[in-house]
Amino acid sequence: MSLQGKRIILGVTGSIAAYKSAHLTRLLIKSGAEVQIIMSASALDFITPLTLATLSKRPVLVQFQKDETGVWNNHVELGLWADLFLVAPISANTIAKFANGLCDNLLTATYLSARCPVMIAPAMDLDMYQHPSLIANLNRLNSFGNMILDAESGELASGLSGQGRMMEPENILIRVNNFFKQKEDFKNKKVLITMGPTQEAIDPVRFISNHSSGKMGVALANAFKDKGAEVFVVSGPISLEVERNRFHWTDVRSAKEMYSAALKIHSMMDICVFAAAVADYAPAEIAPEKIKKSDSELTLKMVKNVDIAFELGKIKKPGQLHVGFALETENEAENAKAKLYKKNFNLIVLNSMKESGAGFQLDTNKVHIYQSIGGSISSEVADKSKIAELIIDQIKLAPIGV
Ligand code: PMT
Repeated sequence: MSLQGKRIILGVTGSIAAYKSAHLTRLLIKSGAEVQIIMSASALDFITPLTLATLSKRPVLVQFQKDETGVWNNHVELGLWADLFLVAPISANTIAKFANGLCDNLLTATYLSARCPVMIAPAMDLDMYQHPSLIANLNRLNSFGNMILDAESGELASGLSGQGRMMEPENILIRVNNFFKQKEDFKNKKVLITMGPTQEAIDPVRFISNHSSGKMGVALANAFKDKGAEVFVVSGPISLEVERNRFHWTDVRSAKEMYSAALKIHSMMDICVFAAAVADYAPAEIAPEKIKKSDSELTLKMVKNVDIAFELGKIKKPGQLHVGFALETENEAENAKAKLYKKNFNLIVLNSMKESGAGFQLDTNKVHIYQSIGGSISSEVADKSKIAELIIDQIKLAPIGV
């Protein structure tokens, strides 16, 4: 495995696991990477810059530096220089700073300036690792597309035993290698992802919609992007914090708008993933003014919405691959398979509202994936980013043009 020519910023923060960053630096350098180390001030209590500078063959940076014009801008240059920003170990403190845009040292400023992907390897005590605020911060970083290298379980510096140990440097090296390798997987591929709910207006202030948060779609968009794809998102209204500028992003409201945005680009796409929860019906008419409360009942006439996946399935070109989702509450497998063929999908991802840990809003999902050529697999309950990886693995197996 070679990292020849790859430029990596290695951030080191205050944690007992900082001693492992020396070994990690050595492994990265031996693999051919150029490594620029940035330490937080508290990391200096755990390992010396001299050790890391010697191993990385570069001066270690801790503070903002003035250039010859007197301007403090090394964080911007560093952010543009790197192919990967890796922070190992990252403490709960720095995780909170990254998640909330705090910028009080060179490492946090470089994080905000970095245009490259970010990978973090948390290290802390087991109770800290389970704390809801830490979990919320990690989820937030995950939704920004940052890759999180889950802490490993074992004996901790506190003497307690549990999850919180920084991933071993050898395993981090594997993940770094995989990251660079996977960037080739979907190189030059264009991927459309519909996501989120649609909102169908009743009058200027009311609409009909559903509970989709867009989390599954964002996880897919991030995973495709990390694998080198050019990702086109057509999203219904969502309130997630997403780094939209990683993608070609179009915000829409109604099914009609989603259809016309998707149709416009469909012919250029290699892969289309229909993760949106599209309203099947919309009010026949949108009242021009707010409907006043008058009678004891209100009857709305609804008409069928365009079925985006079905319509685009009819014009699917040879070589294009369509992936559908099915959200079911009964006869799950049967209904999902019927949609697989009716909508001309190459594969369909079934998530059932009956399974705990699956479906709308949650950070996790549990899916069954059916291929049009036969064969299926089922997942355990897992984070939506892991489910996205599984879906992409199945996409790689699907024969194109079927
Ligand atoms: O967004 P989250 O909160 O993370 O939740 C994720 C999810 C549950 C919304 C997602 O995983 C999911 O299942 N999306 C599809 C939900 C759905 O509308 O399923 P469906 O069985 O009604 O539709 C089948 C397929 O046709 C889907 O690919 C859907 O995008 C597509 N469709 C449906 C109706 C329509 N008018 N146009 C469509 O394109």
